[in-house]
Amino acid sequence: MPEMTLGHGWNGRGPAGRIAYVDGRYLPHGRAAVHIEDRGLQLADAVYEVCGVVAGALMDEQEHLDRLARSLGEIGMAMPMARGALRLVMRELVRRNRVRNGLLYLQVTRGAARRDHPIPPAGRRPTLILTVREMDVGAIERRRVSGVAVVTRADERWARCDIKSTQLLPNLLAKTAARQMGAYEAWLVDADGFVTEGSSTTAWIVDQAETLTTRQLSHKILPGVTRRVILEAAAEAQLPVLEHCFTPAEAQAAKEAFISSATGIVPVVSIDGKTIGDGRPGPVTRRVQELYAHHSAARAAQASR
Ligand code: PDD
Repeated sequence: MPEMTLGHGWNGRGPAGRIAYVDGRYLPHGRAAVHIEDRGLQLADAVYEVCGVVAGALMDEQEHLDRLARSLGEIGMAMPMARGALRLVMRELVRRNRVRNGLLYLQVTRGAARRDHPIPPAGRRPTLILTVREMDVGAIERRRVSGVAVVTRADERWARCDIKSTQLLPNLLAKTAARQMGAYEAWLVDADGFVTEGSSTTAWIVDQAETLTTRQLSHKILPGVTRRVILEAAAEAQLPVLEHCFTPAEAQAAKEAFISSATGIVPVVSIDGKTIGDGRPGPVTRRVQELYAHHSAARAAQASR
């Protein structure tokens, strides 16, 4: 068979030198592919994880793998390989791509099968896809310095947002609407009028009493790994923290606001056009960024011992 360059969506140009891991093989990014009847592709019968890479090291790796195992368990799937082996593949992929500061994506689908709604019996071979890419460190720094705008949108997702499913259309539509409105992120609002989370981030506010507030865990939000580490670090530093619902109006009246995810902690300086605080990233957000970096690094050092 002649060598084929898939590269769909890449105008035939795979990012030069990038390597992906698909179904047990390291392949050039432009030639890595799944079967057309893959259930992830056709039915979003798949879950995923995103792990930050900082100075070549995977951030909060154990927590991401714990959540992957949980998401898989909730849809009746097992881990695609032993955790130790998976960790080796993740490290090897970062090494082969020479990524210093970036993001590692990991998708597990239920594999290829004749298209049908009933889930095939367990025991089939899942599809495991890993990719890693460098982040735009300059853009991250600019957002950290200037903060970003968010707009609110109706939360139109399903009732199990705690599962990190690749079924992301409502998230994509909300994020795109936000970008079209000149905002960086969309905060999703449930039918009761409370903010659930961002389209790809956890939503936080700092109220006038300087209490750090984020919504409590439930089926309505993803249990963010960064969220969890921030809560641990904040508790250790004795910052007042509250896990409860807030409305867009309460968010607009906040002293500070920010979003968190594996891509970082980003100050929010306006919500639906209303300026938050003095319109600049505030001291509590800065402190949370420092605490998170410190706490995560300490955990990574402990894990590698
Ligand atoms: N998004 N909420 C949603 C809906 C998310 O998609 C994410 C992560 C988060 C934050 O979770 P964590 O702190 O574990 O990254 C919250 C990833 C980055 C993504 O889909 O690209």
